[in-house]
Order: sequence, then C-alpha cells, then structure tokens
Amino acid sequence: MSMTGQPGRIAVPTAENIARAATLLRAGKLVALPTETVYGLGADALDPQATAAIFAAKGRPADHPLIVHLPSAEHLPRWARRIPKEAIALARAFWPGPLTLILPRDADVPDAVTGGQDTVGLRVPNHPVALALLTAFDSGIAAPSANRFGRISPTTAAHVEHELGERVDLILDGGPCQVGIESTILDLSRDAPEILRPGAITAEDIARVIGRRPKVRGEAAAPVEETVDTPRVSGSLAAHYAPSTPLRLLPAEMLVEEAAELAGEGSRVAVLAHGCADPGDSRFTWIAAGADAAVYAHDLYAHLRALDALGADFILVETPPVHPAWSAIADRLGRAAVGSGAREAP
Ligand code: TXA
Ligand code: MG
Repeated sequence: MSMTGQPGRIAVPTAENIARAATLLRAGKLVALPTETVYGLGADALDPQATAAIFAAKGRPADHPLIVHLPSAEHLPRWARRIPKEAIALARAFWPGPLTLILPRDADVPDAVTGGQDTVGLRVPNHPVALALLTAFDSGIAAPSANRFGRISPTTAAHVEHELGERVDLILDGGPCQVGIESTILDLSRDAPEILRPGAITAEDIARVIGRRPKVRGEAAAPVEETVDTPRVSGSLAAHYAPSTPLRLLPAEMLVEEAAELAGEGSRVAVLAHGCADPGDSRFTWIAAGADAAVYAHDLYAHLRALDALGADFILVETPPVHPAWSAIADRLGRAAVGSGAREAP
C-alpha cells in the first residue's frame, strides 16, 4: 500500500503528491501522469539517463523520439531554436491542448529525447494534474504514452499500473482521460506543415488558424506501410495500438452476419459497434460505443482493453464513418487491426 491508501504506485494528485512527483523527476525517476489525451510515462527531458529509463520501461527502440511536455508556450525558446509564426499562432489557439508541434530542436535537447533527429516534439497538455506537475517541475517532461511498446495506450491510472507495474515509480491518478486518443502531431520543421499523426485537432482546425491545410501523412494513400524513408515516428508504424486478440474492421452491413458465422464455427466473438444495432445474440459480447466521435474516442482504448481481456478468438469492429472528426479513430483502428493477434507484446 502507498501513502495514499491505494494499492500499488497509484497516488491521488494532492499538492503533496504532486510535489513528491516533481522531486522524483528531479531525482531521475519515472512518474506516470494523466493528460487529456492518454497517460504519459514522464521523466526529466534534460536528463539522458532518466529518458533512457523510459525506453527500457516501455521496451521501446531508442530511435523513436519522445514528446517533451511544457508548462506553457513561454518555455518554447528553451527547446526550439526556430519558432515559426505558425507555431505561435497554433500554440495560442490550441495550447494547452492535444496538439504536438515538431520544431527544429535547441542544441541543449538531449539526443536521447529526439532519437538523434534535428527536431523535437513539444506540447502543453490540457490536464490540471499535468499542468500542476509541469509548473512544480518548471521544465520539460519527456513522456510517451505509458504503455509497453506497440500496445494500447492507457487512459486510466489502472491501465498504467497494468502495463508497467513496478517499472514506474509513481502514477498520478487524474481519472479517465477526456480525449482518449493521442495528440495530433504537426511537423512544422519543414517547408510545408504536415500532420504525422491525426488526433482530436484536425487538419481543418489547423487550416482555420494558419490559413492553409496541412498535408496529412497517409491521407488518400492505401494502407500506411513502414518504408525506409519514413521518419522515426512510432505512431507511423502500421502495426500499433494493438490488442492481442485478432481484430477485424467490418462495415455495419456485414458485422452481424460475420459475427454469427464465426460464432457458428465455434469461435468466441466480441464486437465493438457504434451504429449497428445489437442483435441480442447471446453467443457474442457486444459493446455499443458512442455514435459521436468525441465520445467514441474517449472510450476507445478502454473498450479495446475490455474486449481484449475477454480472451475471445476475434474482435470485430464496425468500420468508422469517413469524416474528418473520425479520421484519428480510423487511423488507430487500422493500426490496431494490423498489429493485433500477437499474444506477447513485441
Ligand atoms: O497525446 C500524446 O501525444 C501522448 C501524451 C502522453 O502526451 N504522448 C504520446 O507519446 O503519444 P508517444 O511517444 O506514444 O508518441 C509520440 C509520437 C511518436 O510516434 C514519436 O515518434 C513522435 O511522436 N515524435 C516525437 N518526437 C518527434 C520528432 N522530433 N519528429 C517526429 N516524430 C516525433
Ligand atoms: Mg504511444
């Protein structure tokens, strides 16, 4: 039992525990923190040993760079050597919030954070606990999603505990994450702005602020495949965010039929639907997710974890609508389908 009376390393975010978390970060320890998107596994971004511990805890390859979380946009000049006007406008419009900006890095940013790249990913998260910790720490916290590499991102403190256990020194419990999927990543380090990972802030939202629509990696292209030229963005791996149970995407009109057919063959089937009505067939588990994109995203990873935990033979997911508000969800489901089915984490 911890000092909070909760099991394991989970701590309620009292002022005392936030101060303790900042002290742990200064000592080079790992602290899991809630953000509005997903929980992050945090370490002092200027301490290469501490950030190396993140890679070890996640089982993540060292060339996948980390996002640095800042207390406010005022910290930007300490981390980026060039801050384009568009970055300032976007920070004003969306920070704190689920937008990561890729900028040319300052020379002091350790290679351990950037994976040796000349750029750094920066964002100010919109969660009171994250902001309180960042303000107490008064510097950058490097934090990838607090899951083992390639697995489903955690959206509750209990998910983090389940993913990382004693690999993390403290987990601040900020409740379920409001957005539920990872931040939009926008590369502003090259000539044309490009979304590397879709998120709650869409290309259209960005266009309204900077007056031009960013390119979107993988858009209008067939399934995203990893190629040798792809920058090292782990979110760009086709297989990612993956449950261990094989996951298939199916349009509404095929969902019930396919579930019934698989069940008829003796398979245990779990379904995640958002529009298609539950046929009430006792042979399969059916989760009716929100028909609204924001609600669907909020619950997506918790639903995938719950479905995965059933130990079914298949998870069938109703194909999301083709609409900008759903594009980040479609991206994550596509990767989950490609990466699914491995019983052990890669
Ligand atoms: O919402 C989020 O962004 C969450 C919360 C914790 O802030 N973080 C998150 O981190 O999703 P992670 O490490 O799971 O994913 C960050 C992605 C990775 O795909 C990484 O490769 C990419 O950001 N990234 C980080 N720095 C980069 C850079 N300099 N250039 C290109 N991609 C970068
Ligand atoms: Mg991640």
